[in-house]
Amino acid sequence: MGVVASAPAKIILFGEHFVVYGEPAIVLAIDRRAYATVDFNDDKSLHVKSSNLKLKGCFKDGMFKVEQGDAREARSRFEPVRLAVEKVLAKHGANIGLNVEINSTVPVAAGLGSSAAVVAAVTAGVGALLKVKMSKEDVFAIALEAEKTVHGTPSGVDPAIATYGGSILFQTDTGFKPLEVKAQIPLVIGDTGVERFTRIQVEKVRKIADNYPQVMEPLRKAAREIVLRGIDALKENDLDTLGELMNINQALLYGIGVSDESLEWLINAARKAGALGAKLTGAGGGGCMIALANDEKLGAVQDAIMRAGGRPFMARKTDEGVKIERT
Ligand code: MEV
Repeated sequence: MGVVASAPAKIILFGEHFVVYGEPAIVLAIDRRAYATVDFNDDKSLHVKSSNLKLKGCFKDGMFKVEQGDAREARSRFEPVRLAVEKVLAKHGANIGLNVEINSTVPVAAGLGSSAAVVAAVTAGVGALLKVKMSKEDVFAIALEAEKTVHGTPSGVDPAIATYGGSILFQTDTGFKPLEVKAQIPLVIGDTGVERFTRIQVEKVRKIADNYPQVMEPLRKAAREIVLRGIDALKENDLDTLGELMNINQALLYGIGVSDESLEWLINAARKAGALGAKLTGAGGGGCMIALANDEKLGAVQDAIMRAGGRPFMARKTDEGVKIERT
């Protein structure tokens, strides 16, 4: 039967990309989760299967053998899983064969932190199966290491929210602080269906930051101010201000080159349909956008995103971080 663990996806309300440069970001865990089922096997190898991606493969003696799907894709998608399992096995102190099956309700490569959620769930699941004592800090540290193999120089925001859940204020030097967000934040997520790579998006911004440091500096400051105003607006449940701040944040993200046509279509459609604010979320360049709307406009915003070619769905924030679903 094995152990089942899960971890949540996330949306970044404010501060993506600028968070890589030490600025704060506001992140909410949402009610879409990645699930990992882990169990023992007898052949001392690591078998990984992703039902959603229709990929399957096996790591044994430093080699990878694909069993379903494209070999390169399987290898690169499963590498963070392998690394996470290796780290937990090192804590356990013995090399044991494992089967890991991933099921996810999180769109992949869409800015919702699917890879971090998968890796946090796998880490916690393997830990529970092997009865390795692991705190959330341990899960976060391993998930962050694994994320580095996918995203290059991640800020750590994705593994943090996948591990701790809730609503957090994240900053690279001070870590994360839980934010109190009592009100529901009525959000529609629109998936452009365009897959993109966080690593490439982060590198794009790096070039701009290197070439135009004096231009980047005031943009960073603006992003920081948006987060600070956003904290107050969240406390006061001031949706109008949150919406305006989202629109300004989107303009900054457009400025640093991480929006694209597919996102702009959906963002404009959502605003025209009455959203209080709309922006991309995560790394951009495709992936997902989010729109904030009063309850009576949520349906119209969803329809508008669909008519503009996106896949809309409603998201609710969740307090639940990584957790063991079944032992
Ligand atoms: C990705 O969800 C958020 C980025 O800011 C990258 C990161 O913080 O690691 C684009």
